[in-house]
Amino acid sequence: MNVMWDRKEKKFVFVIFLLPFLWMIYSFLSGRYFPDPAEPFMTISGIWASLFLVLSISITPLVKIKRNLRVLNRYRRFVGLTAFWYSGCHLLAYLLLHAGFSFEWIIEDLTKRSYIYTGFFALLILFVLAITSMRVAVRKLGKYWKVIHRLVYLVPVLVLAHLWWQVKADYQIALWFTPLLLVPLFFRIKKLPKN
Ligand code: HEM
Repeated sequence: MNVMWDRKEKKFVFVIFLLPFLWMIYSFLSGRYFPDPAEPFMTISGIWASLFLVLSISITPLVKIKRNLRVLNRYRRFVGLTAFWYSGCHLLAYLLLHAGFSFEWIIEDLTKRSYIYTGFFALLILFVLAITSMRVAVRKLGKYWKVIHRLVYLVPVLVLAHLWWQVKADYQIALWFTPLLLVPLFFRIKKLPKN
């Protein structure tokens, strides 16, 4: 076994995945983006959620293409949970910084920004995948587990709809994430020979 991947690396991986979150907490407490922090926090948390989503859907095709990367399988669930975690931070930024937890404001916002629905459904699927990824759920769901986990294919499509739908002038983020999300999705759908 490669010494680098002897499971002791797990805590380093955990810390690395946590760094963007710590950075967001630090930025928030230091008032970095104040007086108008909603947009930067939503963009940063959204980008990290999307990046972990890219990583999460890339592991299966990467391992199929290159067998000696199979150590990554160990982190598949963890990466998926991290994507869910950052999507949750993104939602929290929306509710707290954008909407100030005002129900009326959110209802009105939903009539103006329809792209929120696609983001919401992507987050809902990530939530379902997160709770059904627990060992006990895998056992209890049996063959239905696979059916439920096929929902993962919908998430990149919903996120891309979320990104392109909200484009006004700057389409950089949507443009970058289009190949980043579609290429691994394509390789997941395409049956690859096992080597
Ligand atoms: C209930 C769920 C969600 C809500 C309410 C939501 C809401 C929003 C809003 C209002 C913006 C625009 C912020 C601004 O004005 O700058 C935004 C941007 C963004 N969202 Fe979401 N979103 C949700 C889910 C997601 C998910 C699941 C992802 C990715 C996994 C995501 C990724 C992004 C990204 C990357 C941006 C920045 C896009 C840009 O600036 O071009 N969102 N979201």
